[in-house]
Amino acid sequence: MCGIVGFIGKKRAAPVLAKNLKKLEYRGYDSAGIATLAKGSFHLLRCAGPVAGLRGGGMLAGTCGIGHTRWATHGAPSEENAHPHIYGRFAVVHNGIIENYHALKEECEKRGEAFSSQTDSEVIAHLLERYYMGELLEALRAVCARLRGSYALAVMCANEPETIALAREKSPLIAGYSDGGTVCASDIPAVAKQGAELYAIEDGECAVMKKERITFYGMGGGEIDKSPLAFDPETEAPYRCGFPHFMKKEMAEIPAVLKAARPNLGDFRYEAFYEALCRAEHLQIAACGTAYHAGLAAKFAFESLARVRTEVSVASEYRYCDPIVPDGTLMLAISQSGETADTIAAARLAKERGAKVVAIVNAESSSLAALADYVIPVRAGREIAVAATKTFNAQLAALYSIAASLAEYRKKRGYGDVLAQLPGLAEAALAAGEGVRSWVPYFVGASSVYFIGRGADYVAALEGCLKLKEISYLPSEGYPAGELKHGTLALVEKNTPVVAVLTSRRLAEKMMSAIEEVRARGAKVFLITSLCEYAVAEGVTLSVVVPECGEIFSPALSVIPLQQLAYYVSIARGNNPDKPRNLAKSVTVE
Ligand code: F6R
Repeated sequence: MCGIVGFIGKKRAAPVLAKNLKKLEYRGYDSAGIATLAKGSFHLLRCAGPVAGLRGGGMLAGTCGIGHTRWATHGAPSEENAHPHIYGRFAVVHNGIIENYHALKEECEKRGEAFSSQTDSEVIAHLLERYYMGELLEALRAVCARLRGSYALAVMCANEPETIALAREKSPLIAGYSDGGTVCASDIPAVAKQGAELYAIEDGECAVMKKERITFYGMGGGEIDKSPLAFDPETEAPYRCGFPHFMKKEMAEIPAVLKAARPNLGDFRYEAFYEALCRAEHLQIAACGTAYHAGLAAKFAFESLARVRTEVSVASEYRYCDPIVPDGTLMLAISQSGETADTIAAARLAKERGAKVVAIVNAESSSLAALADYVIPVRAGREIAVAATKTFNAQLAALYSIAASLAEYRKKRGYGDVLAQLPGLAEAALAAGEGVRSWVPYFVGASSVYFIGRGADYVAALEGCLKLKEISYLPSEGYPAGELKHGTLALVEKNTPVVAVLTSRRLAEKMMSAIEEVRARGAKVFLITSLCEYAVAEGVTLSVVVPECGEIFSPALSVIPLQQLAYYVSIARGNNPDKPRNLAKSVTVE
C-alpha cells in the first residue's frame, strides 16, 4: 500500500523518481507526486490517478527528491491528498498508517497550524517543523517517537541540501546505490539494476542518504553495519515480454512455477524446518485473500495425506480472536509479498504464544520472512498484476509438497508421482482454459455470478470468485454447493451464471444434484471439470475439461481456467486486469 522513492545524484532527480515510481504502481495508483529540492526551495508536482499523470515532472529542478504513489486510506484519492506533503521547511512521503494522527493533528491545530490535506501523513511534516533544531535526523527521530502505527518515511528539509532522512516501522523500505546515486524505495524492483547495491531498513531503524553515501542507524542509537540484499536484477525487472498484460504473462508462467516452487526438503537448508515439521502436532495456517485460499486447499492435503490436524484462519481474524496455540503447534504464515500487515501480526502472535513460525513467501527478503523461524520460498518470480495468479499455484505446489513429505514421514497415504506431473498438466489446463473465452458473453452483463464446488473444488470456486470480483467488479459469491439450498439459492434467477467446479469423483453425484437445483431456477451452468463424462451432462451450458490430478491437488489445475475467465471478463468489461480499482498488491496496513 503506497510506494515511496527517493534519489540523490548528479543528474536531475525527477525523471529518475518518476521512472522508479512507475515500477511501484502495483502498490497503489490513486495519486502520485514528486518533490525535488534545489537551492533551498521545493519544487512539487502531484496528480490524482497513476504516475503517468505527472506530466512535465521531468522538468523539475534539483538532483535530490522524493516521490510517492498512493493507495488511499485517509482522505479521498485527490491531488490535495497526494504526497509529498510540504509544510514549512519539510517535504514528506509516507507509506503506512499513523494511528494517533487525530490527536497529533488537534495538537498542531491548537498551535494555529493549518492543514492542506485530509491525510494522516501531513501531520509528520508539521511535527518535523516543530522538532527541528538544525539536524534532520534528530528531528525525524523525535517525530517517530510521537507516532503510533506503521510507517516508511522519506523526508527532506529545505535547510539541508542533498539530504534525505529515512525511517521505518512496520512498512517496507530499502535504500542503497543505484541509478548513479543513492536511492530509497518501498520495494526492490523500483531500483533493481545490474550493479545496484541495496540494503533493507528494518523496523526501528533510520538512515541518512547523501549524494555518495547512506548511513544506517538504530532509532535510538549509533551506526549499524548492514549486508547488501541478494537479488537478481533480471527477475526483479517488471517486463511484460510481449504479453498484453502482466496477468496474462503470469498465468503463462504457471507450469514453470509449479516446478520451481516445490522445496527439496532433503536439502540441508531445510533440515531444521523438516525436523520441526515432523515434530509438529498441530498446524495452524494464517493468511489473507488468495493466500488464505491456498491455506484452505493445503488443509485437505495436510489432513487427508498426513492426518495432521490443521486449522486455517483469515489472518485479520486470527490476531483478534485470542487464539489457542497448543504445544507443538507449527504456524504456516502464507504470503506472496511477505509484507501483509495482518499476516505478519498473526505470525507474531502465534510465535508469542509458543508456536514455531514458517513463512511461505514469494518475497524472500520480506518482513514475514525476517520474523519467521523457517522460510520456504515459493520462487514464483516477481508478480506484478495486482490479482494473484501464479503465486497461488506456487503456494499450492510448495504446500502440497510439504504435506506429501510429512505423509511419507508418518507413513500415511501415498500420493503417487502426481506432484511431479503437475507442471505438464498445467500446460494442458492453460490450453483448455482458453475455452472460457466463449463463456464471456454470458458473464459480461450479468448482475451477479455464483461459484460452487464441494471439498477442494469449493476452495477453487472461492478463488475463482475472488479473481472475478476483483478485476471485473461483478458481484460474485463462492459457495459450498451443498449449502446453496440453505439460503443463497433464493438469489438465483433466469440466466444467472453459475460456475461449478467438479473434479471429485467421490462427490460428483452430489455436485450434479446442486447443479440441477440451480438449473431448475433458470441458472446457466458453466462447468470446470476433470471428469469428461460430466462435461456434456444435461443442463451444462458450456464446459472446460482440465486434466485429472486427484481430488486433493485439483485446485492447482482447476483454478487456471477460473483465472482465465476473470481475465477475459475483465477485458470485455473495459477494465485493466492488471490494476483493479481500489486495490493494491501489497497490503501493509491493517
Ligand atoms: C487477490 C490477491 C489478494 C492477496 C492478499 C494477500 O488476487 O492478490 O487477495 O492474496 O492481499 O497478499 P499476500 O499474499 O501478499 O499476503
